[in-house]
Amino acid sequence: MKVGIDALGVAVPSMCIDLEVLAKARGVDPLKYLDGLGTWRMGVAPLDEDTVTLAARAASMAMKSAQASPDEIGMLVVGTETAVDHSKPVSSFVQGLLGIGTRCRVFETKHACYGGTAALMMALDWIRSGSAQGKKALIVCSDIARYGLKTAGEPTQGAGAVALVVSANPRLVELDPSRTGQYASDVHDFWRPLYSKDAFVDGHYSVQCYLDAITGAYKHYKELEPTVTANDFAALAYHVPYGKMAKKAHRQLRALENDPAPDASFETQVAASLALPAQVGNIYTGSLYLALTSLLSTSARPLDGQRIGLFSYGSGSCAEFFSGTVVAGAQERVKALGLQAMLDARKKLSIDEYEAIMRAREEADVKPVETKAADDYRFLGVDSHKRTYVGPRA
Ligand SMILES: CC(C)(COP(=O)(O)OP(=O)(O)OC[C@H]1O[C@@H](n2cnc3c(N)ncnc32)[C@H](O)[C@@H]1OP(=O)(O)O)[C@@H](O)C(=O)NCCC(=O)NCCS
Repeated sequence: MKVGIDALGVAVPSMCIDLEVLAKARGVDPLKYLDGLGTWRMGVAPLDEDTVTLAARAASMAMKSAQASPDEIGMLVVGTETAVDHSKPVSSFVQGLLGIGTRCRVFETKHACYGGTAALMMALDWIRSGSAQGKKALIVCSDIARYGLKTAGEPTQGAGAVALVVSANPRLVELDPSRTGQYASDVHDFWRPLYSKDAFVDGHYSVQCYLDAITGAYKHYKELEPTVTANDFAALAYHVPYGKMAKKAHRQLRALENDPAPDASFETQVAASLALPAQVGNIYTGSLYLALTSLLSTSARPLDGQRIGLFSYGSGSCAEFFSGTVVAGAQERVKALGLQAMLDARKKLSIDEYEAIMRAREEADVKPVETKAADDYRFLGVDSHKRTYVGPRA
């Protein structure tokens, strides 16, 4: 039975900051951020945009692209590590904002940046088992990556969401859930205690944990299909906390096959997947799927019918290497979403505006929020301890 990604949607906040501006303000050589990390811009969410509004906007785009009606969705899962409530899931807010019907499994998954992949794998198995009874799954990965002002992680922040409509007879990527390599290990590389809005990270250790995870997951994948080599993939999309990490991941994967020039294939196999992430920053759960979107929308090469590899990593840790086949016409479908124009329309913040938003976020959970845009999904603030949202007028 075929199963995979039928349509996708992407949401970024309406504001961003140039990393060149940030570097100058921090007294850092801009080339460290632009080349050393491989990120040029990162999304910044103003107070009336959060994990819920980003998820709803991405989901709405994916549903329109799939031409799916709310009643066709039988499973709605939001993978996030920046949820807005300890109990009520982001997915319930999204259900309400999109008018998804009541005959649906609606819940949230968490495992750092791996939570969305956990949901995707569950959805694939749900469809393959027959439990879906012809319905589709809507999987949304939504996060605001926050390490705090003037920390080492500051240039690797970002915000955004990617939504995937998962179905039988997919029109974008047919996935192979029976052949996935897994790796999990109890490590303390990145975490966010319940009392903190900012994440804590042992930065250089987290890079090593990621590389250990790709080693373990790819070795497992190759045990399931011993004849496969990295050359069998037309392209590879990795989890992208920042572009350079994907480059390190690719080098590691190639080195596992004793490739004497492990960087030589980077331009052909990986570069297109980093075009959009370089302008958005880290979006945690959605990072791999933004890389996949970038590959499909910016690759100059036709990928129809070609096999691609995907690597998901969540600190803590859990990782998965899996693969799929690009469906004919997928690149045109994703290009038609107009994602570059969406990125270009963002307001570029000054350093003062960016820092003011970061500081004000501390209070946004307990106060009403001013919003100007009634034609989009927006957070209105907290009333009687309940978060309230508005969606675009029908
Ligand atoms: C990623 C992170 C560890 C970088 O930390 P850092 O100590 O500030 O940065 P580094 O000194 O390692 O420099 C980063 C890169 O820029 C390069 N660089 C430094 N100065 C440079 C310059 N002037 N010009 C060009 N490149 C430069 C470094 O050589 C390094 O590249 P390399 O990794 O290929 O050697 C930090 O931003 C972080 O903790 N981020 C959050 C955690 C994360 O994203 N983890 C990823 C795994 S999940």
